[in-house]
Amino acid sequence: MKVSIERAAALLKCSQPVAIPTETVWGLAARLDDEPAMRQIFFLKGRPLKNPLIIHLSDPKFLFSCCTIKPPGLHELIDAFWPGGLTVVVPVNENKVPSLARAGLPTAAFRIPDHTTTLSLIKITGPLVAPSANRSGSPSATTPAHIIKDFGSWLPILQTKTYCRHGIESTILIWQDDAWHVGRLGAIGIDAIATVLGYEPARHTAHSDQPLCPGQLFRHYAPQARLTLSTGAWKEDDASQYDGVLGFSDRSYPGARRIITLSTSTDAASAGNALYSALRDLDRFQLKSVYVDINVPASADWLAILDRLEKASQS
Ligand code: TXA
Ligand code: MG
Repeated sequence: MKVSIERAAALLKCSQPVAIPTETVWGLAARLDDEPAMRQIFFLKGRPLKNPLIIHLSDPKFLFSCCTIKPPGLHELIDAFWPGGLTVVVPVNENKVPSLARAGLPTAAFRIPDHTTTLSLIKITGPLVAPSANRSGSPSATTPAHIIKDFGSWLPILQTKTYCRHGIESTILIWQDDAWHVGRLGAIGIDAIATVLGYEPARHTAHSDQPLCPGQLFRHYAPQARLTLSTGAWKEDDASQYDGVLGFSDRSYPGARRIITLSTSTDAASAGNALYSALRDLDRFQLKSVYVDINVPASADWLAILDRLEKASQS
């Protein structure tokens, strides 16, 4: 059900979660001052209560009013990347940010999305929490059709003409032990962040047992299909082992039963934009076993895509 900005604001005021567009992926929003609505979001998504939410703002005032320290580099990061695909996690005054949004942590995550319609909504409602608008564990939603597939057509969806430009979630930076750390790779490249900070924020490996973001502990981004990632070249013998290939439009996969392409192998931006639709297509075509061509450079622009594919391939 598509709704206008005014209708979305009215529904949110009555504790009804609404799907909101952002330049990264769609979010499922509730007001930060509305605990029953936040609870509904966890319930609707099937999301563990231990996994905190990102608070979406239309300006940084609320962040400055509740953070207990202003880490070096915070202002520069905000100036460089907001509105945009960067989330910052900082220590907060626990009386000012509801525990449910923080999952009980002494920190909270904030970003200003770069999406005019959603910013207009937040100006009316105040801060909105919004996890990605997908069932927990499934690929994130980058189109209204993805949201309807996961939740049904009853869910109010904020009407917009613009799509998710990045198609990959925000990059998360966490202030901890006197330095910025990468909690999640995402829409903003680490190279651009390093230029602003003057150092490259430390990164935990994908296999870390104690990820900085609680969300990284849970199964993520995954289609039903079993994914086998390959950094090598496709061999015709591979065809018999797989129902299909997730690959690139400038490469050929002779003998493959079905080929789904992201983009050309040199276009990371388009690949990121197509990623979640492509992962969802694997299930739409009921593929059980899929060869995934990840023969791309491990350069900053591919890192977030490789990270998502690696997580999607874990059972
Ligand atoms: O691009 C995005 O970030 C999208 C759009 C809708 O803004 N949102 C999104 O939210 O991806 P979600 O809930 O799917 O992922 C949020 C991540 C989770 O991994 C969560 O653990 C982490 O942010 N997070 C939130 N608060 C945190 C905190 N205080 N400390 C560490 N990680 C936190
Ligand atoms: Mg998510």
